[in-house]
Amino acid sequence: MLTHLVEANYHGDLQAAVQKALLQVQGTFGIAVMHVDHPSAIVVARRGSPIILGISERASLAASDASALAQHTDKVVFLEDNEVAILEPGKFTITTLDNRSVNRGTTDLDFNIESMDRGSFPHYMLKEIFEQPESVENALRGRVNHSEAVAKLGGLEAVQDRLVHARHLIIVSCGTSYYAGLFGRYVMETLTDLTVETELASEFRYRKLNIREGTVVLAISQSGETADTLAALREAKRKGALVLGLVNVVGSTIARETHAGIYSHAGIEVGVASTKSFTSQLTILTLMALLIGRGRDLSYEEGHDIIRALEKVPEQIGEILKQAGKIRELAEKYCHTDHFLFVGRKFQYPIALEGALKLKEIAYIHSEGYAAGEMKHGPIALIDPKFPTLALALEDGSYERVVSNMQEIRAREGRIIAITTEGNTKLGNLVDDIIYIPRTHEAVAPLLTVVPLQLFAYYCGVLLGRDVDKPRNLAKSVTVE
Ligand code: AGP
Repeated sequence: MLTHLVEANYHGDLQAAVQKALLQVQGTFGIAVMHVDHPSAIVVARRGSPIILGISERASLAASDASALAQHTDKVVFLEDNEVAILEPGKFTITTLDNRSVNRGTTDLDFNIESMDRGSFPHYMLKEIFEQPESVENALRGRVNHSEAVAKLGGLEAVQDRLVHARHLIIVSCGTSYYAGLFGRYVMETLTDLTVETELASEFRYRKLNIREGTVVLAISQSGETADTLAALREAKRKGALVLGLVNVVGSTIARETHAGIYSHAGIEVGVASTKSFTSQLTILTLMALLIGRGRDLSYEEGHDIIRALEKVPEQIGEILKQAGKIRELAEKYCHTDHFLFVGRKFQYPIALEGALKLKEIAYIHSEGYAAGEMKHGPIALIDPKFPTLALALEDGSYERVVSNMQEIRAREGRIIAITTEGNTKLGNLVDDIIYIPRTHEAVAPLLTVVPLQLFAYYCGVLLGRDVDKPRNLAKSVTVE
């Protein structure tokens, strides 16, 4: 339809034809138009969906995600809604749809181009899983004040008082970022007395919002372009909330539209499955909880315990990655199953959900993530020898209760893989297979337990011949509703 509309308005000037055509349409678009009469021009326009221009001496480029441009240039220009740009070799001009000219300078991309190179890894997903010791380190770098046992988050300084004294925090996000948000709720509630809600952005944007004085909305997004998350934050902003972002892609739309925010510094994530951006999100949510908690009633000692645990994470992830061979063997044993269940409680519940999502999207195996305590309210009916369970059974405050859920599964002849704490010898015959993770603080453990689940999904995907970096039907940035 758009092509016909542009054609109907075309009288020799392609940019004018696109402007006139788009003034007649409703809804969202991010388009690139080429015409046989103008072989060296591309006209791009956006409303709602992202368009980023890449500028170099040799060429002008356009993409919907800055990472696609990083191999060609580090100079980009972000197009805003209802703007049209004409790209020609070495130059570009921007106007609004109603033909007012726009002057916008370039922004420097801070992507490290080497991170686009797979190196010796067969897939980006595996490379990104193995980058986690470094990406968690980067998320922490310069953000901890040891002497006061508090977090230093430069991007939040301007709003720190409002955040620390907020009454109500609502976290909105989608997919893996939503599971990070669920973790965020547990960690904020543990380290602060703040009321925290987590909501899927696609639901939040259509709810009747109760934004009161002291409400802060935090949008979490790797890409910073997810349409539902963006719409949710715009709605919250319109209703008067302080809107913050936790985003990976620098300069992305969500990063630009929030009042303040923090970058996760995970580096470019190419694989469609979020891996390193998830652990960076968990790291920063923990730092945010520490910042708010220490501004309220969290003790110095408790703050220090969290910092000590966070600082050990890069090395501990390194230890887990050494078990990749063993996890591959488990994938060989289980990848031909049609169904999988992931269970965990409290801090491990969001990780059960994330483990199930990874296995679905990468290996196309039907998997369910459940809060272990919910088993007897329905899902246990599914359990039989062909429906294995991965149980997150760390020696923490929930251990005895998770073990009792595992006993119920065992009694129905369900096979169980357990992820448990190093040195735990008590699981014996209750499980078929065990993966050990180093001992850590209960609130920090999700940063470790998710790593074997990422590897398990990856190896299942590879063994089943899936396209793990670009799984079917999925896109890295979901820029449409
Ligand atoms: C993660 O593995 C998924 N591909 C997907 O759920 C993703 O997390 C979701 O689309 C949200 O994306 P965002 O973090 O870029 O907003």
